[in-house]
Amino acid sequence: NRASGSIYRFPLVEVHGVPLMTPIAQDWSSIWAFSPDASDLLIATYPKAGTTWTQEIVDLLLHDGDAEVCKRAPTAIRIPFLEIQSPAPIPSGLDLLKSMKPPRVIKTHLPIQLVPEGFWENKCKVIYVARNAKDNLVSYYHFDRMNQSQPEPGPWEEYIQKFMKGNLGWGSWYDHVKGYWKEREKRNILYLFFEDMKEDPRREVVRIMRYLDLSLADNVIDKIVQLTSFKVMKDNPMANYTFIPKAVFDHSISAFMRKGEVGDWSNHFTPAQSQMFDEDYAKQMANVDIPFRTSI
Ligand code: A3P
Repeated sequence: NRASGSIYRFPLVEVHGVPLMTPIAQDWSSIWAFSPDASDLLIATYPKAGTTWTQEIVDLLLHDGDAEVCKRAPTAIRIPFLEIQSPAPIPSGLDLLKSMKPPRVIKTHLPIQLVPEGFWENKCKVIYVARNAKDNLVSYYHFDRMNQSQPEPGPWEEYIQKFMKGNLGWGSWYDHVKGYWKEREKRNILYLFFEDMKEDPRREVVRIMRYLDLSLADNVIDKIVQLTSFKVMKDNPMANYTFIPKAVFDHSISAFMRKGEVGDWSNHFTPAQSQMFDEDYAKQMANVDIPFRTSI
């Protein structure tokens, strides 16, 4: 009994075997047809892997660490979310992109095979951020509780199963991280890890800066590290998603800026769940060796 065109928990609809929110699936042909400029930069992630954090770092790097410029609008307006479609919690990516001139920074959660081909044809720079499966799952679980535009997470035990089967928005975490990993050298993708960013944020900010062919002063880099710390971003209304109405993102259920830590999975998985998950993980990740860390 929703009003037509309003937000609700959209069911997932498969696009080429990947479950996506209904509005994305419905408008898939225009998303697939999107053609970026060669100067556009793509930030790609599985949901909850550290997208917003990376977006903030990149925006600050591109604006010489100017905090005020980077507060010109909420993250989702500064950096369009390519595939998001109305009605959705944030403005339609394609609409926003039409109103912005390149070079643009663009966010996507699409697995590599669903990224519009223009990004590869134009040799756009692509930053991929990956987070260890267990923490990624925990973060997604809490996000699905608070985000009223995604399917209900259901009980924790069942959520683990859904994650393992890839029955969540944007599909299988396993396929996602492997897809970009296998192509990272051939397609010049900067492949980052959430855990590395937590361990040594300055090192990772410098890594991103070099990939973007920028060279900022040491004090500017220090400032960017400070401005993109969890604490500062949590209190920054232009980075913490509090601009979204409570009917869509209910931060009283779980804040978007929730904990920002490595290893919170151990507060959620029982030993039996952890063992079951690890056994399945070994099978799903058998053909690849991505150096994920579940603690730092
Ligand atoms: P938690 O739910 O574990 O706290 P995304 O931006 O891809 O949706 O990812 C959100 C996750 O990144 C959340 O994880 C959020 O708290 C965390 N995060 C956001 N900004 C961060 C920062 N500056 N430092 C550490 N973690 C951050």
